[in-house]
Amino acid sequence: MKAWLVTANGPPSSKTLSLSPSHPTPPPPRSSNLLVRISHAALNPVDLHLINVLPTWLPFRQNAVPCMDFSGTVIATGPAVKGVEVGDAVCGALGVGQIAFGTGTLCEYISVPQGQVVKVPEGMEMRQAAGMMGIAGQTAALVIQAAGGLKPGEKVLINGASGGVGSILVQAAKGRGARVVAVCSGGNRGFVMGLGADEHVDYGTAEPDLEGFLEGRFGKEEGETLDWIFDCAGGQRLYDECPKYLKEGGRFVSIVGGRTQGIVPFVRNKLRPVMLGGTPRGYDLLGLAPSGRMAEEVKEWVEEGVVKDTPIDSEHKMEDALEAFEKLASKHAKGKIVIRIAE
Ligand SMILES: NC(=O)c1ccc[n+]([C@@H]2O[C@H](COP(=O)([O-])OP(=O)(O)OC[C@H]3O[C@@H](n4cnc5c(N)ncnc54)[C@H](OP(=O)(O)O)[C@@H]3O)[C@@H](O)[C@H]2O)c1
Repeated sequence: MKAWLVTANGPPSSKTLSLSPSHPTPPPPRSSNLLVRISHAALNPVDLHLINVLPTWLPFRQNAVPCMDFSGTVIATGPAVKGVEVGDAVCGALGVGQIAFGTGTLCEYISVPQGQVVKVPEGMEMRQAAGMMGIAGQTAALVIQAAGGLKPGEKVLINGASGGVGSILVQAAKGRGARVVAVCSGGNRGFVMGLGADEHVDYGTAEPDLEGFLEGRFGKEEGETLDWIFDCAGGQRLYDECPKYLKEGGRFVSIVGGRTQGIVPFVRNKLRPVMLGGTPRGYDLLGLAPSGRMAEEVKEWVEEGVVKDTPIDSEHKMEDALEAFEKLASKHAKGKIVIRIAE
C-alpha cells in the first residue's frame, strides 16, 4: 500500500517524511480488530511533535507511519468483532502507543481494535468525520467533561478558538447553552462568530496587553467575570493574570502542556501554592487518551445537533501531505487540515 513514512526526526520536510509506494498492508484482522481502508486522515499538532521526538532508529520504528485521525470503510473483521460489518463507515483516532510502535493513519489501510472506532454519523462526509471524531473533537469532549458539562448561561472564554480543537469547542460550548467569548486573530472574527461565538477578542489588536483588555472588559463590572477559561493556545500570562477576569471559584482548563509538551506548566500552575506566588484560581491540564468511548460522545453531539460541522481549513491529496504539514506547523489552521487518501 501507499504510506507516508517517518525517515528522520525533525520538522516535516522531504528529509523527515517520504511517500512509499510499497509499504506492507496489515494482515487479515485477528480477534476484535477491523481492517479499514482509509478514506481521510486529519492532522493534529501532536503529529508534528511525535515525528520530531520518537526515535527513528528504534527497531520497531523503522518505517513508522505518522498521524492519528482517520475515517474509512471496514473491509474485513476479526472473529470476535460484534456490531460492525464489512462495508461500514467508521472513524476515530489512534493513541500515542500505537504511533510509537509504527502504526499511523497516513496510509491506505490500518488494522485497529473495534473499541477504538465509532460508526460515521448518518449523512456526515468522511472528511468531516476524520476531523470531528478524531483527536480534536475528542479533546473538545474532554474539556467539556472537565467543566462538568457546562451549564446554560455560564460564560466561557476560549483561547485559540479558530483552530482544530477551538472551532469544535466553540460549537459545543454554545450548543450547551454557554455564552462564548472567542479569542483568535482579527481575520478569523467572522469565522468564529459563524460557529456561534457571542463575542470575539482579537489577540492581535489587544496585544501586547490581551490580559489588560480582558480585565477592562470582564473584570470591572459586577456579573461580567468569566466562569471558565479554556486555553487551546497556551497562554501562560492568560493564567497568571486570570484572577482579574475569571471569577472566584472559576477554573482555567488548558490542553497545552503535559505529556507531549513538557511538564513545566503543570508543575508551575497546578502544584505551586498561592502562598508561594501561585495563582488563586483552579487549573486543570488535560491529556487525551483517545478511545471509541470519547469518539462516541462526540458522535452524540453531532446527532443531537450540539455541534454542526467540522470546519475544514483545507483538504490535500495524499501526495501533497508535506504542504499540509507545513500549514499545520504555521499554527494558524482555521479548523481541520485533512488528507484525502482514497481517490
Ligand atoms: N492535551 C491534549 O490532549 C491535546 C489534544 C489536542 C490538542 N492539544 C494541543 O492544543 C493546541 C491546539 O490544538 P489545535 O489542534 O486546535 O491546533 P491548531 O489547529 O493548530 O490551532 C491553532 C490555533 O491557535 C490560534 N492561535 C495561534 N496563536 C495564538 C495566540 N497567540 N493567541 C490565541 N490564539 C492563537 C490560531 O488562531 P489564529 O490563526 O486566528 O491566530 C489557530 O486557530 C496545540 O498546542 C495542541 O498540541 C492538546
